[in-house]
Amino acid sequence: MDKVCICGGTELRGKVSVSGAKNACMAMLAAALLTDEICILRNVPDLRDVDFFIQLLQTLGVEIKKLAPNTWQLKANSLSSQAPYELVRQMRASVCIMGPLLGRLHEVSLPLPGGCVIGNRPIDLHLQGFEKLGCQVSLEKGIIHVQGKSLKGNAIFLGGRFGSTVTGTANLVMAATLANGITVIESAACEPEIVDLCHLLQQMGADIEGIGSPQLTIHGKEKLHGFDYTVIGDRIEAGTFLIASLITNGHVKIDGANPKHLTAILHVLENIGASIRVDTKEQSIEVFPCLDALKPFEITTLPHPGFPTDLQAQMCVLGICIPGLSLITERIYPQRFMHVAELQRLGARIILEGSTAILQGPANLSGADVMASDLRASAALYLAGLIAKGETFVHRVYHLDRGYENFDQKLNQLGAKIQRLADN
Ligand code: EPU
Repeated sequence: MDKVCICGGTELRGKVSVSGAKNACMAMLAAALLTDEICILRNVPDLRDVDFFIQLLQTLGVEIKKLAPNTWQLKANSLSSQAPYELVRQMRASVCIMGPLLGRLHEVSLPLPGGCVIGNRPIDLHLQGFEKLGCQVSLEKGIIHVQGKSLKGNAIFLGGRFGSTVTGTANLVMAATLANGITVIESAACEPEIVDLCHLLQQMGADIEGIGSPQLTIHGKEKLHGFDYTVIGDRIEAGTFLIASLITNGHVKIDGANPKHLTAILHVLENIGASIRVDTKEQSIEVFPCLDALKPFEITTLPHPGFPTDLQAQMCVLGICIPGLSLITERIYPQRFMHVAELQRLGARIILEGSTAILQGPANLSGADVMASDLRASAALYLAGLIAKGETFVHRVYHLDRGYENFDQKLNQLGAKIQRLADN
């Protein structure tokens, strides 16, 4: 198990390019299951989660070739409908295979994904949706079996207690593309990753109306074709670099992500006095040194276009850098605060009140050993390490490798001092 040593105190400077969006990729790779034709996906980040997903697809029978760095070719000729527990338990995004396998084979068996450190993550909305399409759902020895002789379009509502479901929307849209008749999904997720998936499905020949809105209408087709598609840039990676630049009083230009996908965070940052130049044509965001000008903030995480939960942990680090009190309320995963205790080890002043973090700045952090618990918590610990005095050792850094491509190298190119070490 690797750990990293971060030597804090440098102001980040320079240019960084973000990789393809992890959370778009999983569903897009799964979309290859919808056809027996050749599919090519470009700008796929080199990540542990992508490796797992590729392995999962291979065990289902998909022939997969890496054509070039970040470019994969997939051909799903003869398929199995049964996903192995060993791979599914390592990655919740495995659920994304359900919709396309149902569309294609009319059956799928998937070990129920277990708990997760960021909170309870049920898939009840996915399963209710499959039932609406005419499938029977049963649970036997921890394995969910979904079967339907043929899928039939229907009205589906995907709004839950915490808003819509992102992977649930991906699953139901993909299943509906091969269902008989029309499916109308209400309270569909509007995340850019879902929009990008819908565009890819259109390239495959799917008929989808309302893309980007909470109401999606899908006219089912008998067959879909292959695709050659380039994944959008990762808005969460871009947001993480934005925050890294601000907290180090740096000057960083971030390329490769569409600023329109970052409206919520850009809005908050501009309101608190951040000096940022956005170029929508060039798709770049430039952050100027402005730490001393920043004012405290109050944010609540919400489904898109609200503030993304996947930037909540990183915003906690920004909050402790700004003099005064900032508040962050988590509405998607009310228990997603595993990073707080670790940040406190570095000297951060944070109080948790239910699902609200009260953050007090300015920060006076000093390096220590801290433990990463999940992907975004790891990113927050890296950020804290960048501003802590002395050396911060982030353990269990494999969590970070699930979702950030070459994060150490990218930060080091901006002037950070990060070194990877073996944990023993
Ligand atoms: N929910 C239900 N029932 C369901 C599905 C979801 O109650 O059937 C609840 C969840 O418990 C949660 C909320 O609805 O409170 C939203 O969950 P959602 O299903 O939207 O999450 P997801 O699709 O499992 C994706 C991303 C997450 C990201 C969330 C929210 C992927 C592979 N994962 O998860 O990404 O946090 O949407 O935006 O797309 C990450 O990248 O670090 C990450 C966790």
